[in-house]
Amino acid sequence: MATYYKEGEQPQFSNMDGAQEAQYGTTRRSGCLGKAFGTACAVIYFVLLTAVAVIAFILGSYATSKVRSFSVPDAILMSDPSTAPAGYTVFSLGTGLGYWSPSTDMLHQRSDHGVISYQKYAYLVGGMSFNPSANKSEVSASVVRYDTETGQMYEMAPLPFARYRFAYAQSKGNIYVLGGADNTDATTNTVFVYNIAANNWTMMGKLNTPRTDACGAAVNGKVYVFGGYDANYVSLSSVEVCDPATATSSAPAVCTQLPASSDLKVSRGDCRAVAIDGIIYAVGGVEWYNNTQQNCTANWVFCYRFLNSVEAFNPATGVWSFRAPMISPRGDFGIEALPGGRIIVAGGEKGNGTNNAMAMYDVEEYIVEHNIWVQKAPLPQARFRDDLAYVAGRVYAFGGTPSCELVPDGPPCNQVALKTVFAMFDVQYPRLYAFFKAATATASSA
Ligand SMILES: *[C@@H]1O[C@H](CO)[C@@H](O)[C@H](O)[C@H]1NC(C)=O
Ligand SMILES: *[C@@H]1O[C@H](CO)[C@@H](O)[C@H](O)[C@H]1NC(C)=O
Ligand SMILES: *[C@@H]1O[C@H](CO)[C@@H](O)[C@H](O)[C@H]1NC(C)=O
Ligand SMILES: *[C@@H]1O[C@H](CO)[C@@H](O)[C@H](O)[C@H]1NC(C)=O
Ligand SMILES: *[C@@H]1O[C@H](CO)[C@@H](O)[C@H](O)[C@H]1NC(C)=O
Repeated sequence: MATYYKEGEQPQFSNMDGAQEAQYGTTRRSGCLGKAFGTACAVIYFVLLTAVAVIAFILGSYATSKVRSFSVPDAILMSDPSTAPAGYTVFSLGTGLGYWSPSTDMLHQRSDHGVISYQKYAYLVGGMSFNPSANKSEVSASVVRYDTETGQMYEMAPLPFARYRFAYAQSKGNIYVLGGADNTDATTNTVFVYNIAANNWTMMGKLNTPRTDACGAAVNGKVYVFGGYDANYVSLSSVEVCDPATATSSAPAVCTQLPASSDLKVSRGDCRAVAIDGIIYAVGGVEWYNNTQQNCTANWVFCYRFLNSVEAFNPATGVWSFRAPMISPRGDFGIEALPGGRIIVAGGEKGNGTNNAMAMYDVEEYIVEHNIWVQKAPLPQARFRDDLAYVAGRVYAFGGTPSCELVPDGPPCNQVALKTVFAMFDVQYPRLYAFFKAATATASSA
């Protein structure tokens, strides 16, 4: 039975006979704090405590002997994972940290959108979203500002045209939307810019290569877009840079395609990117390849593979170099840059060889300083085509698509997006790593 206290009062059970309890005057505590039971209860408590101690001792001995039966010859705690001696496995002590809890749902389901964090807001841009007047999900021009403190949502100035599966970047109070597909599913080359403070959109320019599902990031005011698919759904490796400073009152901004020496090392659509300290990271995605072992006309899935590879681009040198791959390959996931030189990815699409559109729960965090990916607390609800925002120590995951089109009569993927939002408290933790030798034959025979 619960005991209730008035605001500001603290329980002060100074002795076992409950002399203090009357003054709280709400629910009387029953059981061992009652006057009549004082002595008997002392005995019961003693017996219970002894029992707990004995059980704890037995469990403790058992656990110790279990650990000993794993012949771990050596374990080391270090702050730099690259110093692991040969033969040791590296384990981050931050593995599995985090806790996702529900936040206010979006008004309507939304997938294939971009989410941009700005002050305490998340801007939900375009995507495939439910249109109440049409009673179905459509490619959308809608822009919603989601207040992470109050859960309030406001419709902002819409995109000039409906877009989904575009690349986006944020720079100097502007949001850039590059390429993507329109409401006829045609691949586009348009570049739009949204002035956050003025709440207005401008047609900024045109890409040299129309591309959908590309990834984008901004460094030093310049906006980079790379990868994606062409109109035939062949993945691209080319890189373009759009310079907003080249726009004049009479001419749009110039987008330049960089030479082949600046191409991604791996062509990738459905990729994601962020910039940290002037370096752009292109993460995961899906690569088209000429699979001569299978008939891709019969099943297009055979000619695409999900990537875990990660590449970093230095705009000063114009070349990409590989970084540590993600733990799980994925395409079409949520991404956000976090303070302290980290990247978080959440959800994403995977396949089983014959079917794609399988939504993932997995969340990973990349630590730039240590070039390592660490598994974090998984999403409570699997999703792909989702996106993330980071506000005041919390990571928000917005919408996306659940697993879809895996059964013949299942609803089409573009009509089953989620409107749920989850928030993860971004727990800071010491960057410590345990180096250990994997358990030997003793463990597998146990
Ligand atoms: C909206 O569409 C769903 C199925 O697509 C249908 O079941 C429902 O009756 C429709 N609602 C209205 C108000 O037309
Ligand atoms: C957007 O707002 C800014 C600042 O008020 C203004 O300079 C600009 O002309 C506006 N652009 C459009 C397309 O309305
Ligand atoms: C795929 O490879 C086969 C065999 O090398 C070749 O004949 C075919 O033209 C290739 N297809 C494409 C689309 O590149
Ligand atoms: C590949 O699949 C298509 C469509 O199912 C079929 O028409 C074609 O004959 C197949 N090609 C081969 C080489 O089996
Ligand atoms: C992949 O999943 C689908 C849907 O569950 C199933 O029908 C198919 O047989 C699976 N393919 C393989 C290779 O397991």
